[in-house]
Amino acid sequence: MRESYDEYLKILNDNLLDYLPPVDPKSSTLYDAMKYSLTAGGKRLRPVLLMASCEFAGGKAEKALPYACAMEYIHTYSLIHDDLPCMDDDDLRRGKPTNHKVYGVGMATLAGDGLLNSAFEVMSKNLFMNFDDPDELKRHINAMYIITKAAGITGMVAGQVSDIESEHTECSEEMLEYIHRNKTGALLVGSVKAGLVLGGADKEMLDDMTVYAENLGLAYQIRDDLLDVLGSAEEMGKNSGADAQHEKVTYVSLNGVENSEKKLKELTQEAVNVIEKYYDNAEFFRNLILKLSERTK
Ligand code: IPE
Ligand code: IPE
Ligand code: MG
Ligand code: MG
Ligand code: MG
Repeated sequence: MRESYDEYLKILNDNLLDYLPPVDPKSSTLYDAMKYSLTAGGKRLRPVLLMASCEFAGGKAEKALPYACAMEYIHTYSLIHDDLPCMDDDDLRRGKPTNHKVYGVGMATLAGDGLLNSAFEVMSKNLFMNFDDPDELKRHINAMYIITKAAGITGMVAGQVSDIESEHTECSEEMLEYIHRNKTGALLVGSVKAGLVLGGADKEMLDDMTVYAENLGLAYQIRDDLLDVLGSAEEMGKNSGADAQHEKVTYVSLNGVENSEKKLKELTQEAVNVIEKYYDNAEFFRNLILKLSERTK
């Protein structure tokens, strides 16, 4: 597999806009709004994970590319909607004014809808390319199903539902973990699983990497909660202090900074341990989670 994050990042960035379905010129504002958020920056963690997981299992990143683009469309839509005044009401994202600040609430909502539907258009169109090979087709359908489910009403959307319902309430640790595992973990786990399936991973690898990705997903949101308290808007490209302002239940509000850092370390170590048996082959994933546990943006 490729060695560095930046190699996968480049494949994604070189293709992300090209995979968007063409829009009617009458909808050029919609296209501009979608493009605005897609190109505003972003770490591209989910598509990189998806392509790297495909290569880890023995496939080529290029095969996973349409799904990687679809995943970034879905993630970007989730951020646009997450920032809306009726949700987290944020005005800074990826270092720029949020979508609704530039295009208005109605257009931002539609830009999110447009990105979500583009994801399904890209993935389903890609199925046609594999019609002549039933085994390969099965893998592609499975990848699409995994992504659909991760983004859906028992995945990311479910997490966002409980996130807003938990505002201003006393929520249990169990509920908080449910929220984190769904609103953030689901797309990260879905990215890893979809990539593995496309690459032809066996059950053992799928099981091990699912544990890795679940830990990464929860750890990633704990770090996000920590950064909301400790991070700087300049570095993160989004405002800090927003969670406390909205009385959000977060890992930090429930357990404090020190315990959150401890939990983050434990989850990271567990993830490193579960992929140890893949030796040097898993170096990419080991380095990635260690780096993410200390990220400042
Ligand atoms: C932000 O996701 C929202 C969370 C799930 C924590 P990222 O931290 O991956 O944001 P981008 O894509 O780099 O902007
Ligand atoms: C975001 O969680 C999860 C999704 C967008 C699905 P947050 O609300 O904590 O993310 P940020 O902090 O706004 O990026
Ligand atoms: Mg939110
Ligand atoms: Mg938010
Ligand atoms: Mg946050």
